[in-house]
Amino acid sequence: MSISVSASDGATISRLAPVKINLALHVTGQRANGYHELEMIVAFGDFGDHISVTPALHDDFTVSGYYAPFIPLNNDNLVLKARDLLRTQTPSKCPPVHIHLEKKLPIAAGIGGGSTDAAAALTALNELWQLDLPYEALLELGLHLGADVPMCLHSQQNGAPLLVRGIGEDLSPLVEFPALHILLINDGTALATPTIFKALNKRDNPSLIAPNAFQSIDEVCAYLRKTRNDLFRPAETLAPQLQSRLDELAASGADFVQMSGSGATCFAIFSSCENMLQAKQQIRQAHPDWFVVTTQTYGNH
Ligand code: C5P
Repeated sequence: MSISVSASDGATISRLAPVKINLALHVTGQRANGYHELEMIVAFGDFGDHISVTPALHDDFTVSGYYAPFIPLNNDNLVLKARDLLRTQTPSKCPPVHIHLEKKLPIAAGIGGGSTDAAAALTALNELWQLDLPYEALLELGLHLGADVPMCLHSQQNGAPLLVRGIGEDLSPLVEFPALHILLINDGTALATPTIFKALNKRDNPSLIAPNAFQSIDEVCAYLRKTRNDLFRPAETLAPQLQSRLDELAASGADFVQMSGSGATCFAIFSSCENMLQAKQQIRQAHPDWFVVTTQTYGNH
């Protein structure tokens, strides 16, 4: 199963940079370099940013979308870091390019925004420049850009949910997993990932129970109720309203609620799409300034 997100008009290559949702996130240790050992269940949705790359006379980077004003346009942007890193591989094969990013995912939100953009840029440029770098080489390059980039690269070629271990580089697709109806909310709080990891007061937490095959959304939710997001407590110390965000989602009729990544985006899984759309409408009406989005995640059967 692959995501049909790549489009080409002959000159431009466009890709969806899908939202990344940490359905579970266990922190089980810390490496000598400070990075944490993680065990996560990660899914990707059909909502996200959009990247397009076009041959140009000079390198250019343009942005649009609701969250465009909040991202750096200089070389701090992961998209430009991805372009420059790829170029170091075979500079003679990488002529100037215009990259456009439509930014629909909130920033510092725990749903992989910068990493998924970097992964989409690596994949699109690999295609535009006809570098033919294999997936494994892109994974290695991606890890230099950030711990979440390899899993987002996986989403570029196959949207199947993953069991992710290590610092984020050890990827195992979950073979039997249904597509999920997910509601995402973010009240506008930006949380910096390094700050949340630093605020952890326990780093050797119990492992995930190994996931089996899941035949239904109910089975997924029953499993997820036995998991945690170990970054929730540290995130809550910086954003004390997070528990009430989860409570609001749970009260809307969700089957499972949790925070994604290092926050502050919270999500709800619904077994009924109709209930999810009703909850979305209610929450949007009550909080018109929040990010409130529904997405269907890619399954694997
Ligand atoms: O790799 P990336 O730059 O995306 O990670 C952001 C920050 O999150 C790191 O600087 C580190 O503080 C923290 N992190 C971590 N352990 C991980 C992933 C990220 O401590 N496995």
